[in-house]
Amino acid sequence: MKASLRPYLPSEAQLLALIFQASIETLAEDDYDTDQRAAWASIADDVGAFAKRLAAGLTIVVLADGSPVGFASLAGADKLDLLYVHPDYAGQGLGSMLADALEKLAGARGAAQMTSDASDNAVPFFQKRGYEPQSRNSVMIGDEWLANTTMRKALGGKVDA
Ligand SMILES: CC(C)(COP(=O)(O)OP(=O)(O)OC[C@H]1O[C@@H](n2cnc3c(N)ncnc32)[C@H](O)[C@@H]1OP(=O)(O)O)[C@@H](O)C(=O)NCCC(=O)NCCS
Repeated sequence: MKASLRPYLPSEAQLLALIFQASIETLAEDDYDTDQRAAWASIADDVGAFAKRLAAGLTIVVLADGSPVGFASLAGADKLDLLYVHPDYAGQGLGSMLADALEKLAGARGAAQMTSDASDNAVPFFQKRGYEPQSRNSVMIGDEWLANTTMRKALGGKVDA
């Protein structure tokens, strides 16, 4: 498999919505129940609103052999807002490629840190990258409460060193 990165194209919103939903359905299964995952995935039911969120941030996609299979978005200077890899391509370093790229972009823009509200299933991924938990949060999506953890990493190599 040949992996590459490029900026998100507005015409891909529907495809990224499907990746988002498949990713949540399968990769978050151990930590969130069926109703919680359905509520979370429903964020992308309104593709127009989802496209606006993708366009509001700095969104990049990862391609496997030329096809988009994951994406990530930098919101503002230093918040990793979205990070999703299709379950068929998880565990192959693509999430790391996306996170590496956004951390570099944030650093190049002068951000001293990166934060992310990590879902429980993603906490080990962020910990491996040197992020540390800051606070535990509960967010309501539809009728469901979902917990997440704000994770933070200093940029500039200090944490990784
Ligand atoms: C989190 C996510 C983006 C990781 O993508 P990925 O492509 O599978 O990640 P990588 O293959 O780059 O994994 C990097 C490392 O993290 C580890 N890792 C990834 N997910 C993990 C998990 N759920 N539990 C434990 N370790 C995990 C990998 O084992 C790997 O470790 P290694 O370098 O020692 O091999 C992906 O699992 C996903 O889309 N999850 C569902 C959506 C989600 O929760 N997104 C985050 C919202 S904040």
